[in-house]
Amino acid sequence: MERALTDLIRISNVTGKDPALVLGGGGNTSVKTADGEYMYIKASGTALKDMDEKRGWRHLRIDGVLSILSDKSMAKMDTMRRETEVVNRLLAACCDDVATDARPSVEAHLHALLDTHVIHLHPLVVAAYVSAKNGRAELEKLMAKEKMSWLWVPYTDPGYMLAKKIARLVADYEKQHGHKAGVLILEKHGVFVTASSADAALRLVRKVVSICESGLKPLKAGQTELPSAASITQTKLTIRKAVFDATGKYLPVSYFATTESVTAFTAHSQAARLLATPALNPDELVYANGSALWVETPKADAIARKLRTLAQRGQKVPAAFVVKGRGLFVAAEKSVASLIADITDASLKVRLYAARFGGVLALTKREQDFINNWESEAFRKKLVGATERGELSNRIAVVTGAGSGLGRSIAIGLARAGAMVALTDIDETAVSETAQRIAQEQPQSQTMVVPCNVTSESSVAKAYEAVLAHWGGLDVLVNAAGVAPPYALVDMPVDKWRLALEVNLTGYFLMAREAARLMIQQGIGGNIINLSSKSGLEASKNNTAYNATKAGELHMARGWALELGAQGIRVNCAASGNVFEGSKIWSPEYIKVCARKYGIKPEEVIPYYVNKTALRREIKGQDIADAIVFLCSDKARTITGQVLVPDGGQVMVR
Ligand SMILES: NC(=O)c1ccc[n+]([C@@H]2O[C@H](COP(=O)([O-])OP(=O)(O)OC[C@H]3O[C@@H](n4cnc5c(N)ncnc54)[C@H](O)[C@@H]3O)[C@@H](O)[C@H]2O)c1
Ligand SMILES: [Zn+2]
Repeated sequence: MERALTDLIRISNVTGKDPALVLGGGGNTSVKTADGEYMYIKASGTALKDMDEKRGWRHLRIDGVLSILSDKSMAKMDTMRRETEVVNRLLAACCDDVATDARPSVEAHLHALLDTHVIHLHPLVVAAYVSAKNGRAELEKLMAKEKMSWLWVPYTDPGYMLAKKIARLVADYEKQHGHKAGVLILEKHGVFVTASSADAALRLVRKVVSICESGLKPLKAGQTELPSAASITQTKLTIRKAVFDATGKYLPVSYFATTESVTAFTAHSQAARLLATPALNPDELVYANGSALWVETPKADAIARKLRTLAQRGQKVPAAFVVKGRGLFVAAEKSVASLIADITDASLKVRLYAARFGGVLALTKREQDFINNWESEAFRKKLVGATERGELSNRIAVVTGAGSGLGRSIAIGLARAGAMVALTDIDETAVSETAQRIAQEQPQSQTMVVPCNVTSESSVAKAYEAVLAHWGGLDVLVNAAGVAPPYALVDMPVDKWRLALEVNLTGYFLMAREAARLMIQQGIGGNIINLSSKSGLEASKNNTAYNATKAGELHMARGWALELGAQGIRVNCAASGNVFEGSKIWSPEYIKVCARKYGIKPEEVIPYYVNKTALRREIKGQDIADAIVFLCSDKARTITGQVLVPDGGQVMVR
């Protein structure tokens, strides 16, 4: 491996693994080759700590990169068109065989202007100065004491304009001082250090951090009493409702363990005012949708009103919420929630420090507009995976019996429609396999495995607690865990009868009761589906308990639909035809029972049933999943208390 690349990986990994230096993987690094013709630079979308020999970097011709700044036609271009051209030229300057969707860092032209080794970071202790009104003056005093050669870069729109400004400032500095500036401190942004070796660059970045630290007195500690689990759950449901009411979006809500920054912040007398200023930097604007919202008392209506006001002013709805006495909550896709929490946590601390240095220096409206319209930021955000994925995007669903047969197919179908699915089953191994299958097929999807016996009240309660702890809400319950003891009336043992009642009726009831309680508390409606069977509509032989319970499920659902309709909770059933695929009910023994019943061979059983359907087609798990996705979707908004019969036309509902 080339020396420059070894150096790049080292400085990236060392800085990336140090939480004092890196926030949420942010920052970038580059190293130029000894001949001065090429540079290796971090690629967008890989965290510094994850860069290795194979990924996370690009190899570029420096003259190609610098031509961006020297080409006079670029200076005249319309701003956003020019930024697109910058990206194209950076990609054109790449000379490696790395997949082209790994873009070189968008700050590459800026790196090209500096010494051989460049480290750019956004450490919290640097942000305390660059995001404060008197930060520059405070830093000047500290740097003078240490005789540090450094340069202050007033805020400039990132991208081409920033690179142009830095080119000028760096040249002026060199003319004035007779040597290059090793440290550039960028207002509302972060720090660049540049040196002629990896070790010198690492030493320099640490030196800057320790100088900055030396000027920051510890924050006043706040309360240490932790909120109760019940108040955390209640707050999540409240925030979820507020976000839904203001935006129409279903988002999971996560709670983040209270940190020193959060307690210090919530105890500060000016907390509300400190959060009233906009985003401090592009990261807070792009990932957290601006500064967190301060919530004095968690009431959904009041929060929704504030969110609507922000939206009317053209601002995005914030993803983070700092709730007095409770802590930090994030309403965002699970894949980005902890990044947002990290950014917000740091921002709270920076705001407290900035309050001591003359007040918070936030991005202006114009500066925010530039970043919001800048394609490079949209690209960065896309890389962390925040996307809408289907008609049930971000709906929180619980599926019982998800370890096998129809429950599994329904869970897969819901995940394909974009829902986050809690996979529950009494059989933990089987349900973990469902999770693996979904992860393989849809790496972007969110699932969780929740072992649960639907006949046990405490097990059911625990399952919902786990879902709330993880996602903070509930939109869909699909009752599918069922049993089918195949006995003729005269042969049926009473314990088999009781088992069917327990699983197919008590289990459906317990799961639905908790779901309904939660959905009512949450206040944004929801969907409950009882997976019944065509045997619930038309009795079949040797199926006493199954017929009874499957019919019971239909009628329970009708009553629930009446009770819950006023809360916007719809309750429907799917009465599935025979589905052989993956089902344990259709075990070889059961197939033999059916064969005997009809006087045919076991291998003739499936064709026999297929022939009974009007469509003459075998019904698959996905067919049932599609029916259920429809019932849970907004397309079925006026349908409740009904039975949909995906059975190929075997039983006609009268
Ligand atoms: N397969 C069909 O032809 C068919 C047709 C119509 C309706 N259905 C309905 O679909 C549902 C699933 O049937 P299947 O054929 O996929 O069966 P299956 O036996 O393959 O799957 C049922 C799953 O439920 C789980 N389960 C059983 N008892 C449980 C309990 N107490 N708590 C939690 N989980 C429990 C099992 O571990 C299993 O993973 C049933 O409600 C059934 O009535 C199936
Ligand atoms: Zn940066």
